[in-house]
Amino acid sequence: EISGPTIVCAQAGNVNTGAIDPLDAICDAAGESGAWVHVDGAFGMWAAASPALRHLTRGIERADSWATDAHKWLNVPYDSGLVFCAHPDTHRAAMGTQASYLVQSEGTERDELNWNPEASRRARGFPVYAAIRSLGRSGIADLVDRCCAYARGFAEALAREPGVEVLNDVDLNQVLVRFLDAGGDHDARTRAVVKAVQEDGTCWLGGTTWQGKAAMRISVSNWSTTTDDVDRSVAAILRAASA
Ligand SMILES: Cc1ncc(COP(=O)(O)O)c(C=O)c1O
Repeated sequence: EISGPTIVCAQAGNVNTGAIDPLDAICDAAGESGAWVHVDGAFGMWAAASPALRHLTRGIERADSWATDAHKWLNVPYDSGLVFCAHPDTHRAAMGTQASYLVQSEGTERDELNWNPEASRRARGFPVYAAIRSLGRSGIADLVDRCCAYARGFAEALAREPGVEVLNDVDLNQVLVRFLDAGGDHDARTRAVVKAVQEDGTCWLGGTTWQGKAAMRISVSNWSTTTDDVDRSVAAILRAASA
């Protein structure tokens, strides 16, 4: 039982694993108590563009609001955050700005300052529109599917090596890798391998801690990544791990 305004924040694309929350079930539970459901889909919401992955986002259309970033998987410049809200009156009431010196449009024309937190902003919509227009529906699906296939390629190649563990289910574009240490200090060894790969410079990937374990976090999201990049990166990681 809840009292007062309540918001449930679900995630489409966990920053470590890429996992997408069960959005249908979350919307069922929230609907019973009248809670607002917001989906943080900073990168993972782009999976909805792929016919092969769309099922992971089932129920997302029932949420009250979504946020995603075009500067992540769509590969446009920072800072192209996108918000979608199913309740335009609520959205406008929260964001609308009135002042005697501000000129409001007449009729149906939309004033941007009534829909976002900034009055002055550059034309972020332009590169977003251009990327979507040039890639089209199939181009975006292809970008997403390609990155996910490369992530699975990383996971398969690394998991074959003794002493290397892939920790997550690779449903999307994220791979968490752990390097086992003969002396038992797997965290220290994993962090040392991450540092060595960063110093090597063939590719860049970060470290993280997931479920209490240190891990290498591989995130494949660039449109220009090729099979050759993946092969060279796997080789660089294994070189660092065997040093
Ligand atoms: C799942 C998720 N939510 C939110 C953010 C924050 O995005 P931004 O830096 O564009 O505000 C990130 C960025 O890494 C993310 O991966």
